[in-house]
Amino acid sequence: MNTLTIDIRKAEPRDAPAIADVHQEAWRGAYSGIIPYRALTKMINRRGPDWWASAIRRAATVLVIEIGGKLAGYATIGRNRARELPQQGEIYELYLRPEYQGIGLGSRLFSEARKKLAAWGLRGLVVWALEENGGALAFYAGAGGRDVAEGVEVFDQKALKKVAFVWE
Ligand SMILES: CC(C)(COP(=O)(O)OP(=O)(O)OC[C@H]1O[C@@H](n2cnc3c(N)ncnc32)[C@H](O)[C@@H]1OP(=O)(O)O)[C@@H](O)C(=O)NCCC(=O)NCCS
Repeated sequence: MNTLTIDIRKAEPRDAPAIADVHQEAWRGAYSGIIPYRALTKMINRRGPDWWASAIRRAATVLVIEIGGKLAGYATIGRNRARELPQQGEIYELYLRPEYQGIGLGSRLFSEARKKLAAWGLRGLVVWALEENGGALAFYAGAGGRDVAEGVEVFDQKALKKVAFVWE
């Protein structure tokens, strides 16, 4: 029997091409038909390997999850950006390649991200998700998040509602 090792660690610049790939696949999978095609393509193209390498070097915290040596997903974390919410930490993004969704890896990455933020002394956590991204809403509600606020993001003139989930 083969044992697949699951590893969660900080991203290094050499991970940039694989993260760009995960980003592209996961965003197409999650947002096609929700975010207008042109806006989505632009957002994906902007974040190629060079963009990710520089994000990693600039000390943005990017975590990656690997299974059997293959990069399956990433999360970006840091301080909460929404002044109206008192929680101090935020998971900005949490994305898995489509073929690795639904097998528990998102929960593992989420819990590691939360631990890291707590270890930095940041109390409480916020995550925003688009309201039309039903899978993400179910995931965050299932992980015990309370939806406490709403906002709007505009993509090529299409306004989409977003929801903030918090954990204390
Ligand atoms: C959302 C995401 C991170 C969840 O990670 P995951 O590994 O697929 O989720 P898990 O296997 O750990 O599932 C945890 C729980 O969430 C639920 N869940 C996850 N995805 C779901 C979906 N699409 N629809 C309904 N429930 C879902 C699972 O049923 C599971 O519940 P259980 O513990 O009662 O069985 C991942 O599916 C993903 O990357 N999706 C696309 C990108 C995305 O939407 N990211 C979030 C942007 S804010």
